Amino acid sequence: MNILITGGAGFIGSHTCVALLEAGHSVVVADNLCNSSAAALERVRQITGKELLFYQIDVTAAALVEGIFKKHRFDGVIHFAGLKAVGESVEQPLEYYYNNTVSTMVLAAACRKYGVKRFVFSSSATVYGENEVPFVETMALRPAANPYGRTKAMSEQILSDAARAEPGWAVALLRYFNPVGAHESGLIGEAPTGVPNNLMPYITQVARGKLAKLRIFGDDYPTIDGTGVRDYIHVCDLAEGHLRALEGLRPGVHRYNLGTGRGTSVLQLVKAFEKANGLKLPCEIAARRPGDIAESYADVSKAERELGWKARRDLVQMCRDAWRFEQGAEI
Ligand code: NAD
Ligand code: UFG
Repeated sequence: MNILITGGAGFIGSHTCVALLEAGHSVVVADNLCNSSAAALERVRQITGKELLFYQIDVTAAALVEGIFKKHRFDGVIHFAGLKAVGESVEQPLEYYYNNTVSTMVLAAACRKYGVKRFVFSSSATVYGENEVPFVETMALRPAANPYGRTKAMSEQILSDAARAEPGWAVALLRYFNPVGAHESGLIGEAPTGVPNNLMPYITQVARGKLAKLRIFGDDYPTIDGTGVRDYIHVCDLAEGHLRALEGLRPGVHRYNLGTGRGTSVLQLVKAFEKANGLKLPCEIAARRPGDIAESYADVSKAERELGWKARRDLVQMCRDAWRFEQGAEI
């Protein structure tokens, strides 16, 4: 298949480019590089030994997106491009609503005009909000109360309605849990600009000595050890999930959780990282972070049943690969 990957230079997008190229698909990337670098695509070429095409465009710009659809005949679109910092979305709500929902509409409209029927969308476990764990795809959504979470729920709605009106459309709404780790080559990974918001990149930067210590946001949650529990998934497993979703997609709208189904607390992740890499991480307990929930982990049975996909990599590998990338590449 010939696939348009928006946001393909980013963390999850670059690993998915590798998975698709290695499976024999052709890839065209559209990314404005607002949170990434073209060097990541060079690394994708290096890992796979294969070519991919790259357009540096903003995918909210309908005319530019159409220009790409006119040039190429796509079999499907994977839409990763988006802004993803929860705190920033509270400070810049209009930028988040515009970027994340308009890009979805522009791409869906181009798909309709050019007869492209497969659409895979990057959604998030954040759409479940304060539901009971494990989160199941059939639950009513309660998106976390921030603009970022709402853009994901809105984009899911937009795509579901669009698919209902277009016979033959096949849409996968992939709800990622907590993607971490990096490609085992150490060539691509998560390279946040500024101080990281997320736990794993924060840990690797503390381990590297770039940051003084890890602050653990709350130790009084009703969890195994009082710290927040999340479902960490290796980014390469997540990338393979996209491949299976794309290849196995049937007409209709399908929601899938992509996680491991296992919850890990902050303290458990810290210990796993220390053990996997033979390091000690300076930590302190701090106040809860506003907006955080106690526990988030997936029921992953639907993806396994319908896509034949299951995460294979464990916490040790996630910690080793994240640390290898941190030590090596500056991209
Ligand atoms: P990322 O920031 O590394 O990648 C996003 C990419 O999209 C970047 O390369 C950025 O330059 C590009 N981009 C943003 N807006 C664009 C626009 N208007 N036009 C063109 N390119 C644009 O983030 P990521 O972690 O790889 O996340 C990919 C997707 O997955 C996002 O939609 C994100 O919301 C979603 N997601 C991420 C996580 C996570 O924890 N990383 C969890 C759930 C969902
Ligand atoms: N945490 C700390 N210290 C830190 C950073 C995080 O203790 O410096 C804790 C958090 O309180 C939470 C856990 O580590 O308990 C995980 O936090 P992350 O910020 O890594 O991840 P979240 O689950 O809060 O959110 C992430 C993405 C969201 C996405 C969600 C579900 O940031 O965009 O996963 O996919 F919606």
